[in-house]
Amino acid sequence: KPNTVTCTAPVNIAVIKYWGKRNEELILPINSSLSVTLHQDQLKTTTTVATSRSFQEDRIWLNGKEEDITHPRLQSCLREIRRLARKRRNDGDPALDSMGFSHKVHICSINDFPTAAGLASSAAGFACLVYTLSRVFDVEGELSGIARQGSGSACRSMYGGFVQWIMGQKDDGKDSLAQQVAPETHWPELRVLVLVVSFAERKPVGSTSGMQTSVQTSRLLKHRAESVVPGRMVKMIEAVQRKDFTAFAELTMKDSNQFHATCLDTYPPIFYLSSVSQQVINLVHRYNRHYGETRVAYTFDAGPNAVIYMLQQHVPEFVQAVQHFFPPESNGGQFVKGLPVNHVA
Ligand code: DP6
Repeated sequence: KPNTVTCTAPVNIAVIKYWGKRNEELILPINSSLSVTLHQDQLKTTTTVATSRSFQEDRIWLNGKEEDITHPRLQSCLREIRRLARKRRNDGDPALDSMGFSHKVHICSINDFPTAAGLASSAAGFACLVYTLSRVFDVEGELSGIARQGSGSACRSMYGGFVQWIMGQKDDGKDSLAQQVAPETHWPELRVLVLVVSFAERKPVGSTSGMQTSVQTSRLLKHRAESVVPGRMVKMIEAVQRKDFTAFAELTMKDSNQFHATCLDTYPPIFYLSSVSQQVINLVHRYNRHYGETRVAYTFDAGPNAVIYMLQQHVPEFVQAVQHFFPPESNGGQFVKGLPVNHVA
C-alpha cells in the first residue's frame, strides 16, 4: 500500500532580486535577495508524493504530463532528502526502519497558474517538492538549502511572510539559506496584484541561462551585486520591520529597474519588459505623482507580467485606473482578466 502525502506551496515575489550565480551546480547566488511569499490560496503548486515497495523507479508528472526524472536539479533534491532520511535512521531511530526511504517515489505536481510565464512557478514547484518529500520520508530541519538546489528562488518559498535568502560565503553552500524576516501576520494591509500582460507559456530567455549570460558579460551586474544590493537589503529589512510603505515601494521599484537594466547590459541583451509593461511603469509613476505620495509599486521578474504591491485601502482605486487605461478590449480582453488579489496575511 503506497504511503501518500499532499502539500501546497505558494509563489514568492522578490522585491530585492536574485540574478546571477557563483556556483551553478549548488545554486549559490552572487547577492542576497528578499521576497514576499503570497497567501496559500492563489498562485500555488500542489504536489502529491507516493512511495511504495512495488514502485520500480522514481517518476514525475508535471501538470499531468510525465517529465524526465533524471533532470539534475530534481536528482539533487531527491538525493539530499534521502541523505537526510538515511542519516536519521543511521543515527539510531528504530521507528524509521519501516519508513522505506529507499523506496521509489511517484511525484505528481500541479500549478494553478501558467508555468514559465515569469510568475516564479519553479519557486513554488521545488519548494513544494522538497517539503512534500520531507513529509513522506519524515525528515526535519533546515530544508531551504535543499529547495535552493532545485531552483534558487525556491528556498524563499519555504517560509511565509517576508523572507531573505542570505547569499552565504562558504564554497559548499551550507550558509546559503532562507530566513524569515517577518511573519505573514506582520503587515496585513499589504496586497499583491498580478497584472497579466501576457499569457505566453514560455519566456524567450529562461532565468537560468539569462543570468548565466549576465554574469559572463555585464559589469553592471557585478557592480550591483557588490556595491548596491548589500545596502538595499539592510534598508529593505528596516522598511519591512517599520511597515514603511514608501521606503518599501521605492526600493522595490528601483531594484526591479536595476535588474532589468542589468538584462539590457547583458550581451547580447535580454528584454523581459514589453511595451505594455513599460506603460504599466508609467501609469504607476503618474498615479503616485497625482496623489503626491508613493501608493503603488511595481516589480517585474523574467517576463512582462507586472506584480504590484500596495496597501489594501488603495486597491479599488488603482484597479479602476488600470481598467481605465487598459480597457479589457484593448488587449483581447485579457489584460485585467483574472486579476488575483493576494493577501499576505
Ligand atoms: C528574476 O530561481 O528561477 O525571478 O536558480 O536558475 O532556478 P534558478 O533561477 P530562478 O531565478 C529567479 C529570478 C527572478 C528574481 C528572483 O526571484 O529573485
